[in-house]
Amino acid sequence: MSARPRVGIVGTGFMGGVHARAVTAVGGRIAAVLGSNPARTAAAAARLPGARPAADLDDLLATGLDAVHLCTPNHLHARDAERIIAAGVPVVCEKPLATTVADAERLTAAAQGAGLVTAVPFVYRYHPLVREARARIAADPDAGLWLLHGSYLQDWLGDRTADNWRTDPERGGATRAFGDIGVHWCDLMEYVTGHRITRVLARFGRAFDARGPVGARTAVATEDGAVVSFETDRGAIGSLVVSQASAGRKNRLWFSFDGPDRSYAFDQEDPEQLWIGGRDASTVLRRNPALPTAHADRFDPLPAGHPQGYRTCFEDFAADVHAALEGQPHDGLPTFADGLRAARISAAVTASAVHGTFTEVPT
Ligand SMILES: NC(=O)c1ccc[n+]([C@@H]2O[C@H](COP(=O)([O-])OP(=O)(O)OC[C@H]3O[C@@H](n4cnc5c(N)ncnc54)[C@H](O)[C@@H]3O)[C@@H](O)[C@H]2O)c1
Repeated sequence: MSARPRVGIVGTGFMGGVHARAVTAVGGRIAAVLGSNPARTAAAAARLPGARPAADLDDLLATGLDAVHLCTPNHLHARDAERIIAAGVPVVCEKPLATTVADAERLTAAAQGAGLVTAVPFVYRYHPLVREARARIAADPDAGLWLLHGSYLQDWLGDRTADNWRTDPERGGATRAFGDIGVHWCDLMEYVTGHRITRVLARFGRAFDARGPVGARTAVATEDGAVVSFETDRGAIGSLVVSQASAGRKNRLWFSFDGPDRSYAFDQEDPEQLWIGGRDASTVLRRNPALPTAHADRFDPLPAGHPQGYRTCFEDFAADVHAALEGQPHDGLPTFADGLRAARISAAVTASAVHGTFTEVPT
């Protein structure tokens, strides 16, 4: 690999921009870009100095790339990731890795068989205080975390005229709110606690049964929100509430992992602090580069008191992708295996919501 990875980006919307900034911030070069049509491709290339506008995926791959980042709508991930893997190029694929378990399994097996680096941006893992919580929980096996709960709430689909490819199951997948944001929470819970969800009982709900402009509304098939009860392989119970139509909530990913002696709570909208509950006294731990997590050593944290956030998480994720491309993978980089895990949980949650019964999640 070249000293500065040559990266191709497919999809030039919100995440295409986020990925391009993160890759560049940690020393990569955007060598080629591909949008949904020539005009969008050209506009993106004009924003990204040195990026070649590609005519199609084959043309993008002909650029000679160290990795391709897929930032397109969900239904395109499996098709394009498969072609990139077949070309022998590492893939960073946005979540969901695929909209079916079968596709996610096939992609994961193909990438493993080819020995390729893969990644799926479950970037909330990169908040320093998330790593701190994980390290403390791992060092405290007697913590007895038995109740794992939280939420991921947004309001951007709270307007019935708001529409997006995500509301179309053909493009977004069979689950919308859970598949879009619930999977982030589940990934984070499993990453931080080490617990694995073994079975789920889910209910889906909708704020609106039809969406679109007045006079041209169309029926909606997917959920605006979900309530999920679950059990884990270590005997804990838990619950997760997910919504994309909760007024005033923007990206309220919040968790509380509770034991009789200690509980750990984190809110990604306020990621500079970790609440550690105790029966006699509770502590609010503030982010500080001096905290003893491996995370603080590896990246380039801002001094305490200068808030970091989502963008820094993405940069640290991109740095870990580059390290993996150089043959030095770090613990915590979410890979296709984690994308497959999310697909399995999503499938179980969706089946449970349809049938109204507890559904097993293969571990
Ligand atoms: N990891 C995260 O934190 C995070 C956050 C938001 C979105 N996402 C994921 O990122 C992906 C993209 O979401 P987004 O919010 O950027 O959506 P978006 O609608 O803003 O962008 C998608 C882009 O893909 C383009 N596109 C459509 N068809 C294409 C094609 N055939 N070839 C090339 N480009 C095509 C569209 O024109 C659009 O510019 C989704 O899978 C979503 O789930 C992840």
